[in-house]
Amino acid sequence: STINTCFLYKNHFPTELQPVPTVSPSWLSAGASVTLNCRVKHPSAGWRFYWYTRVPDPSYRSYRSEQIPGSSSGTEPDSFIVHGQTHTAEYWCRAGRGDPEYYSEYSDSKFVWSADIHSSVSLTVSPDRAQHFTSDSVSLSCEGNSTEWTVRRLLTEDRYPSVCSYWGTMNGSTCNINTDSTSDAVYRCESGSGEFSNAVNITVQDGDMILLSPARPVTEGHSVSLSCKLRSQTFDSIVFFYHNEKVIQNDSRWELNISAVSKSDEGFYKCHHSGQESAQSLMSVQ
Ligand SMILES: *[C@@H]1O[C@H](CO)[C@@H](O)[C@H](O)[C@H]1NC(C)=O
Ligand SMILES: *[C@@H]1O[C@H](CO)[C@@H](O)[C@H](O)[C@H]1NC(C)=O
Ligand SMILES: *[C@@H]1O[C@H](CO)[C@@H](O)[C@H](O)[C@H]1NC(C)=O
Repeated sequence: STINTCFLYKNHFPTELQPVPTVSPSWLSAGASVTLNCRVKHPSAGWRFYWYTRVPDPSYRSYRSEQIPGSSSGTEPDSFIVHGQTHTAEYWCRAGRGDPEYYSEYSDSKFVWSADIHSSVSLTVSPDRAQHFTSDSVSLSCEGNSTEWTVRRLLTEDRYPSVCSYWGTMNGSTCNINTDSTSDAVYRCESGSGEFSNAVNITVQDGDMILLSPARPVTEGHSVSLSCKLRSQTFDSIVFFYHNEKVIQNDSRWELNISAVSKSDEGFYKCHHSGQESAQSLMSVQ
């Protein structure tokens, strides 16, 4: 009978019907709303969509899952708009249909990130850049009014945000990342009372070349310098800097200087030198 039950369930919900969520934008900009979408493979009338998020539970120094208020009885359209989101948040969904209602499995989760540095809790990266070589020393420091800090790594593939001790060493309010292997991850600090810092995206590369660009948003009007760095020796030749895939400097300088940053400088940067290319990183402007 267990097998029959399984087939009955499968007849209603083949696994290909596991919904796929999207969240846009992926990095929050001030005042913008966030659009969540839950896509089923064969959209048709009769689906209802349910939305979930993870909220901190300081009393257990952990998180719990919660249905998003306003979606508790399911929403008819597969999109849901969250207004006034100011912090990093994780969302996932599931679909249901019929009477009695059958539910799909829960989808994977997606994040919306906040890089906003104007909060009471802040995370700084040392050295202050988004890309690092494997074997570099990289530390994340938490600042703010707390005596108990946790640094968490948030990866979409992980079911729960893991703490520093899993991938680094915590010393006071600073987490020293273990950079033995390559990784792309977003980090943030959490105070003992459940407040969150800005999120930063850190990339650890085992290649020969990286772009040095600020890990945190730069302030409008300030000067900024991006540079290209080789693991080994540098040679004299042309270095290309790209902004959103367009070449903006190509000469022998290894540095790209912007004397007064404006909103139009926001976007993805990378560099290229004699056949080698760095990863690209987002520079945001506040
Ligand atoms: C820090 O937190 C304590 C306890 O919550 C509070 O009394 C104090 O005013 C805070 N200090 C600042 C500078 O926010
Ligand atoms: C922790 O940090 C302090 C201050 O930066 C330093 O003096 C100390 O050696 C560090 N401890 C360890 C175990 O690395
Ligand atoms: C983090 O940066 C890496 C490298 O630029 C990029 O591939 C990845 O998509 C970024 N992650 C987020 C969440 O923006």
